[in-house]
Amino acid sequence: NAESTLIITVVGASGDLAKKKIFPALFALYYEDFLPENFTVFGYARTKLTDDELRNMICGTLTCRIDKRENCEEKMDQFLKRCFYHSGQYNSEEHFAELDEKLKEKEGEKLSCRLFYLSIPPDKFVDVVRCASLKASSGNGWTRVIVEKPFGRDSESSGELTKCLKQYLNEDQIFRIDHYLGKELVENLSVLRFSNLVFEPLWSSNYIRNVQFIFSEDFGTEGRGGYFDKYGIIRDIMQNHLLQMLALFAMETPVSLDAEDIRNEKVKVLRSMKPLQLEDVVVGQYKGQSTGGKTCPGYTDDPTIPNDSLTPTFAAAALFINNARWDGVPFLMKAGKALHTRRAEIRVQFRHVPGNLYKRNFGTDLDKATNELVLRVQPDEAIYLRINNKVPGLGMRLDRSDLNLLFRSRYPKEIPDAYERILLDAIEGERRLFIRSDELDAAWALFTPVLKELEEKRIAPELYLYGSRGPVGAHYLAAKYNVRWGDLS
Ligand code: BG6
Repeated sequence: NAESTLIITVVGASGDLAKKKIFPALFALYYEDFLPENFTVFGYARTKLTDDELRNMICGTLTCRIDKRENCEEKMDQFLKRCFYHSGQYNSEEHFAELDEKLKEKEGEKLSCRLFYLSIPPDKFVDVVRCASLKASSGNGWTRVIVEKPFGRDSESSGELTKCLKQYLNEDQIFRIDHYLGKELVENLSVLRFSNLVFEPLWSSNYIRNVQFIFSEDFGTEGRGGYFDKYGIIRDIMQNHLLQMLALFAMETPVSLDAEDIRNEKVKVLRSMKPLQLEDVVVGQYKGQSTGGKTCPGYTDDPTIPNDSLTPTFAAAALFINNARWDGVPFLMKAGKALHTRRAEIRVQFRHVPGNLYKRNFGTDLDKATNELVLRVQPDEAIYLRINNKVPGLGMRLDRSDLNLLFRSRYPKEIPDAYERILLDAIEGERRLFIRSDELDAAWALFTPVLKELEEKRIAPELYLYGSRGPVGAHYLAAKYNVRWGDLS
């Protein structure tokens, strides 16, 4: 309201994430009138820049929505006028005290709300949180800090990080992002399940045979090798993005839509998971390939990556939930870089219809007749249900067809970027899409033993060609549990 001010400080403002995602998301919120009247954006980083240099740096990345209003340029100018810059070291209390002076100047006598977005390498988190909380937190309103993974490399380092952050911040000031939770289709998962009678009663091992969480990218780790080699695909994608989707998918009905109620249920599912075994994990690494005059470099061809690196760029895993609802249902995950396609989806394969009258129409392969519900998170968001249908005509031929809800046809409006939703929620203090520390502990508890074993035993990843469908090991793993990966994968 008119009596308060909001200042968002992007720490690490000159980095890639800030340029590509955070400033554009802030502008989109401004453009759509979601930001309060008195808001200011500060960039903070080590690079020396003036306010105008920051504005020049970010203006090229701002875009108006497709349904753009006449005043797009004008809105950009207004937004840029509210952006300022302060250069400083990440571990200097003195530099944060200088920033504080600038923030106070903007705030005047008003109630001050300060949001810090840490878009910096994880080894700087604690320094920045210390300096910001000691020298630049709000005197009369709230101070919140958004942090983005990696939150440690395993249970131990993550616990240590949480402990250090909590020396300076309360849990309710820490907003741990998993940007997949901000994706439209992931938000829609609970709506689909809990508000549709045709799905809710089916959501258990009685009707569901297996569930697949698939993430694939058609590009490698180009330019991010230094970061990636320390973490690998299990820590980069599975332990967070895919596991968060799994928890939302499998949780019991929360008492309400309140953040605490939802997160309580997610933690319960994560704690009910059977410890992951090494034999239920397949790892791979892409190698280079030249086709049609185009050369795609292998993972270790990147000069920042050691030639003998065993870091997986692909992984598949079979997980199980030990509770009454999901007993015996395989939850399969697959995540990979440099594969043949870019895609993220959740696939739910249902059981066979008992005594299927039409089984002879499917020959010996009854799997071809199972219903499948697919949530395509990206690209081209869609929800579709594979059903069996009679091919029109005098004979009796069956065909699998899709009941297809393609978002771009049904809702022609552009879908907001995940970062917009996440930032808006942090501003509004809505914690539903952020990871609580006990959730984080449970997620690490599931993956840490296997990660340690992979590293200690120096398990060599199965090599796969850049642009291929990934290691065949993933198919054997699925077959072990009588599962076939869904189409295209
Ligand atoms: C990030 C990972 O969290 O998610 C990246 O660190 C990955 O490796 C990215 O490329 C994928 O996000 P999106 O939104 O493009 O699917």
